[in-house]
Amino acid sequence: MTSTIAGIKEDLKREMQGGVTVVVLGASGDLATKKSFPCLYGLYKRDLLPEKVHIIGYARSKFSREQFVKKITQHIKTDSEEDKKKLDEFLKFTEYISGAYDKEEAFKDLDKNISDWEQKNKLKKGQKNRLFYMALPPSVFLSVASGLHNSTRTTEGKNRLVIEKPFGKDLESYKKLNSDLAPLFDEKEEVFRIDHYLGKEMIKDITTLRFANMLFSPLWSGYHIKSVQITLKENFGTEGRGGYFDEYGIIRDVMQNHLLQLMSVLAMERPIRRDANAIRDEKVKLLRSVKPIKMEDCLLGQYTAANDKPGYLDDETVPKGSTCPTFAALAFYINNERWDNVPFIMRAGKAMETSKVEVRIQFKALPGILFEDAPHNELVIRVQPNEAIYIKFNNKSPGFSDDCLLTELDLTYKNRYSNLQIPDAYESLLLDAMRGDRANFVRDDELEASWEIFTPLLHRIEKDKIVPEKYPYGTRGPAKLSKFMDRYGVVHT
Ligand code: NDP
Ligand code: BG6
Repeated sequence: MTSTIAGIKEDLKREMQGGVTVVVLGASGDLATKKSFPCLYGLYKRDLLPEKVHIIGYARSKFSREQFVKKITQHIKTDSEEDKKKLDEFLKFTEYISGAYDKEEAFKDLDKNISDWEQKNKLKKGQKNRLFYMALPPSVFLSVASGLHNSTRTTEGKNRLVIEKPFGKDLESYKKLNSDLAPLFDEKEEVFRIDHYLGKEMIKDITTLRFANMLFSPLWSGYHIKSVQITLKENFGTEGRGGYFDEYGIIRDVMQNHLLQLMSVLAMERPIRRDANAIRDEKVKLLRSVKPIKMEDCLLGQYTAANDKPGYLDDETVPKGSTCPTFAALAFYINNERWDNVPFIMRAGKAMETSKVEVRIQFKALPGILFEDAPHNELVIRVQPNEAIYIKFNNKSPGFSDDCLLTELDLTYKNRYSNLQIPDAYESLLLDAMRGDRANFVRDDELEASWEIFTPLLHRIEKDKIVPEKYPYGTRGPAKLSKFMDRYGVVHT
């Protein structure tokens, strides 16, 4: 796979030869309206959709054309007349169909609609490509995949099935879902499991940072690194999503998937090539080396009402007295030579004091006593907001003083790169799905390995009904957090 714009266009032409129909299932929902359609428009605007393209939003809700257009355009920004013109063009090949998720007739009607377009556009055998994006709750994944398999998939072009997380709730349910899906769409050729964190610019950059720099590559191990922190904070609660969230909890919502994917890219060995399977082979090897998490390496929290904001249990969609964690801190150890005894501390929380996602790699102190109190070096990768990489290092205080001063080498993207245009993660992944690049999609064995790490802990939490520690809305998490971090030698620089 090439990654210059010209190369990407070539891939797209080759993979989606003729044209493509993209069907967004669950088109009335949050993800589809906020991300899928705006990102498809974003690709069109950048001239990164195949020449012949047909987009269908599909869901049960009944919308008129006007209602549908209003729903999807409310999240699309048009800054200029040129943008508005592009959006009008985009809407001309985008339509909405209302249909069931469990009726054969509905999937046959969908097939007929697509076939009519293919015929009208004179697509030949081999050119009738179809991409199905399931922006749906997992409860309907299987019946929709089965309806598509029986009545809507093409036999005259490529089929792509893009599936959203969550893929199961534990190892057993994941295996069942996977084995039920396996006969419907081909794992190697057709299935694309999205973890949108793999489409984020700074997470994609980690491989380059690690393996293209003599400056970092030799230092990337427990010989030099003391601890790694991976943090996701959100300054809003689960308001309105309580029904979904309570069934999953923070560990399944963002840690077993987004943050573990981030950790595997950070910690994997160097892949033999930069292609999808070589990268995923290394991620699987790494995940299989992660020790199952012990209960004592886990701290759980749940937010309470504070600062005029409701507590988790105040949400009407949350069952009374729920012990679902909205915050978790977990420490992982990796059983290999590179990472022996290095704690990877993952933290995620809703209703916190701020919103950010970052990685902090803390280095060991230099041996010797010349600068014995010098703070530790730290490499920070700020994934969002305001993408940046910065290194905290010790410098002589400028001037007469020879004090050692902790300072920063700062690569803040918006200051460094003029005309910075970072595509949304979904934009980048939808493009990859069309051009057949699987490097940033999750393979089945990766998921199996990740559920193996989390399942014993999740079962223990549920079986023992572990009660999370309360923390007020808008704060840094449970009071026990500082002691928890101290246990792994994390120092505040
Ligand atoms: P929604 O709850 O908005 O559901 C999407 C659509 O599915 C709804 O508009 C509705 O359409 C239909 N639907 C909802 N509940 C049911 C049900 N019980 N049975 C049948 N159909 C139902 O989900 P999201 O858009 O938020 O998420 C979709 C998927 O994407 C999920 O798997 C989620 O985990 C994942 N995801 C979402 C993110 C987000 O930002 N929202 C981010 C990352 C992943 P209708 O009734 O019209 O058919
Ligand atoms: C989703 C979770 O997968 O990721 C949400 O279900 C979370 O709870 C979201 O808010 C975070 O994604 P991002 O891209 O906003 O950091």
